[in-house]
Amino acid sequence: MSTQIDRVRLAQLRKVEEDRFLATHKKSAEAFADSQKVMHEGVPMSWMAKWPGAHPVFVKEAKGARFTDIDGNTYIDFCLGDTGSMTGHSPDATIAAIKRQADIGITSMLPTLDAAVVSKELASRFGLPKWQFTVTATDANRHVIRYCRLITGRSKIIVIDRCYHGSVDETFATLDDAGNTVKREGNLGAPVDLDVTTRVVEFNDLAGMEAALKHGDPHNFSWSWWYDARPRSKA
Ligand SMILES: Cc1ncc(COP(=O)(O)O)c(C=O)c1O
Repeated sequence: MSTQIDRVRLAQLRKVEEDRFLATHKKSAEAFADSQKVMHEGVPMSWMAKWPGAHPVFVKEAKGARFTDIDGNTYIDFCLGDTGSMTGHSPDATIAAIKRQADIGITSMLPTLDAAVVSKELASRFGLPKWQFTVTATDANRHVIRYCRLITGRSKIIVIDRCYHGSVDETFATLDDAGNTVKREGNLGAPVDLDVTTRVVEFNDLAGMEAALKHGDPHNFSWSWWYDARPRSKA
């Protein structure tokens, strides 16, 4: 016997929840309306507008595994800043360290002793000897792609369909119905057609991955400028 979802009942239940949300989030609704005057879609980053209810929830404060919105509703937070707050929101030790550092300079574009301390700790934990720092995950992905192009001499990257790597241009690709690599919907202002930079493979498609790797895709320009330009150690 097959069980079917009662769509009418589902729509009624959804309406009850949507009304409850509106009744308990009035200040967030006001903040959203106000924010739309000065921010695209009323949010500081456009993906925050992809919200299933009428508007996003505006946060007042967060600590540990909980946050409170500006209407006073408290939530258990299973997202934790998408890993940025993986150890809980605003841990006391982290806040104390940030306050100490803020007092003595936030950025000077020069190395500090702390950078080497952190690198040694990362090396011992992850077994990789040398580290570089970036400001965001997107930035880290961009660097990795450049290093890989340099090391392999190959131009294209392979991504799994529907992957997420931040706003790295090359990764906003998908497969069309004919299996061609094309830009994803909503990919605005791509610098080149995505099949110039990328091959897309379906998740779990081993044969597809092997076929994509077989292309090789050598770089169509010479690396000689890099070898000429790199610094030489003094004899
Ligand atoms: C694999 C991966 N790459 C990139 C990003 C984008 O992060 P950021 O906003 O720090 O650039 C994320 C964020 O969720 C991610 O999970």
